[in-house]
Amino acid sequence: MMTYHTKRTFLFVLLTLLLTGSANAQTHEAVGLKDVYRNYFTIGVAVNQRNVTDPTQMALIKKEFNSITAENDMKSGSLHPKEDVWRWQGADRIANFCRQNGIKLRGHCLVWHAQFCDWMMTDKNGRPASKRLFFKRLRKHIHTVVKRYKDVVYAWDVVNEAMDDGGPSAYRQSQLYKLYGDEFIAKAFKYAHEADPSALLFYNDYNASMPTKRDRIYNMVKKMQAAGVPITGIGMQGHCNIYGPSAQDVDAALTKYAELVSHIHITELDVRCNKEMGGQLQFSKGDTQQMTDSLAALQAAQYARLFQVFRNHKDVIDNVTFWNLCDGDSWLGVNNHPLLFDEHLQPKRAYYKVKHFNPNN
Ligand code: XIL
Repeated sequence: MMTYHTKRTFLFVLLTLLLTGSANAQTHEAVGLKDVYRNYFTIGVAVNQRNVTDPTQMALIKKEFNSITAENDMKSGSLHPKEDVWRWQGADRIANFCRQNGIKLRGHCLVWHAQFCDWMMTDKNGRPASKRLFFKRLRKHIHTVVKRYKDVVYAWDVVNEAMDDGGPSAYRQSQLYKLYGDEFIAKAFKYAHEADPSALLFYNDYNASMPTKRDRIYNMVKKMQAAGVPITGIGMQGHCNIYGPSAQDVDAALTKYAELVSHIHITELDVRCNKEMGGQLQFSKGDTQQMTDSLAALQAAQYARLFQVFRNHKDVIDNVTFWNLCDGDSWLGVNNHPLLFDEHLQPKRAYYKVKHFNPNN
């Protein structure tokens, strides 16, 4: 039989335990992903203009992330739509958000076959611009952009997606490649390095852990480096799905790239709930896809597999960036549910799996 006194002590202890427990849980959720990963790599997010103007979203970004990439606003076509027209407003707002909050900015991207300054490739008579003219324009573009953000951008995706997935040619047969060969890659890195010798300079691509493409990327970077091209990092975009790529493929790619560079960034991570993957601009919007419990479990498990590999390679990976803040922002459409936060900015099962990482499950 408990006396009145023992009962009171028992209740007091129970209450204290409960309160401390929840305080601990709260303290734990009060820290963000960037804090729990501080001994591994920085955690980034790709942002649009809403993300950096809405106070709730700004607070979420500041809590969870310590690296930012502009989703679209620093792409060449968006900054520099015509030879004598520059549009800085969106990019400046993102750069200022980073400056004001001490967040690092990844520059994305100087040369990409999409959202590019297509005018650069045409002369005043409507004919393909000569190499001389094209490279003069490219140099001016790269110098202007890189110098403007030199104080805040620590790494640039200099060339994006120049390799072909599995076709007969190793190089993507873009207009850039057809007109200027792989010299456009070499020159872009050279100009970026001239403009900011201390920035990390990345070659960035999707499906970068698929063996065929991995080897193409590896061979190209190796060849460029041998010719003195200043490529200091490889970006693996990481547009994955709940089934793939496999941990083995990601691990093998990281090991292989680490032979060439000492900086690897996972630049555009998302895990969609269907079988598609990659950075191609055509994809299913998952129109009828509901986020069921079993999909949430598969997604959390895939995020955990990927983070296990990333953690194992923390010596070479220095940043992991999610491509968008929440499912509602995702370039893949809200019904592909690819991110850690849902469309109401609420953390999903995958968020807790990544944050309270447990190597045993
Ligand atoms: C995407 C943006 O998220 C979309 O808003 C835009 O319409 C197309 O580009 N690989 C890249 C990113 O390197 O720049 C792409 O971003 C997604 C694929």
